Amino acid sequence: MSIMELLKTRRTYRRFEQRQIPSEVISEMMEAARYASSAANLQPLKYLVVQSPNRVTEVFAHTRWAGYLPAEQGVPAEGQRPTLFVVVLEDSEISKSAYVATDAGLAISNMTLAAWDHGVGSCIIGACDKEWLSEYFQLPSKLKVHSVVAFGYPTHTSRCEDMTDSIKYHLDENGDYLAPKRRIEDVVKYL
Ligand SMILES: Cc1cc2nc3c(=O)[nH]c(=O)nc-3n(C[C@H](O)[C@H](O)[C@H](O)COP(=O)(O)O)c2cc1C
Repeated sequence: MSIMELLKTRRTYRRFEQRQIPSEVISEMMEAARYASSAANLQPLKYLVVQSPNRVTEVFAHTRWAGYLPAEQGVPAEGQRPTLFVVVLEDSEISKSAYVATDAGLAISNMTLAAWDHGVGSCIIGACDKEWLSEYFQLPSKLKVHSVVAFGYPTHTSRCEDMTDSIKYHLDENGDYLAPKRRIEDVVKYL
């Protein structure tokens, strides 16, 4: 896949097959995160790779999905849930700078692109219960939860469309996702 094709199709996916992601693919995703640029090269991010089915089920119960859609459309039902979560952590002993959030965005981008290169779809979840996650994983106080990222082999397609009147993503008649993107002329100015 060309880089542009990878970028266009690496979208948010919210329904998945129940087949496990091979360990080589997971290792590559985590390597991709490690290679991300980092402000002052401090590299304050740490990751928990949650793969045991019991833990995945518990983490899923503390995530919120697709706020623009009714739950029966946007929240993955049993049998469609992600098979892996990566919890993204910020180590406050290494950095407390506002750039940590930028680092996290870049690392998540690398991770999800590396996954998609192997057909593994993802959903970044900011709306997770960070307090519960900290307690459940018995995190030391220096580690703060940034987000969790859900992974799995998608059972639907997701594509972009030019935005007309709303930025809200929606499903088409086949249950596939459409994500409206602001038009190029509305976001880029060539001088
Ligand atoms: C920082 C961030 C936080 C997000 N949090 C959630 C979330 O809590 N739950 C969810 O279902 N999707 C979440 N998403 C996915 C967005 O809804 C999705 O990126 C957006 O609708 C555009 O779709 P696209 O990724 O296919 O372009 C998040 C995305 C980002 C970048």
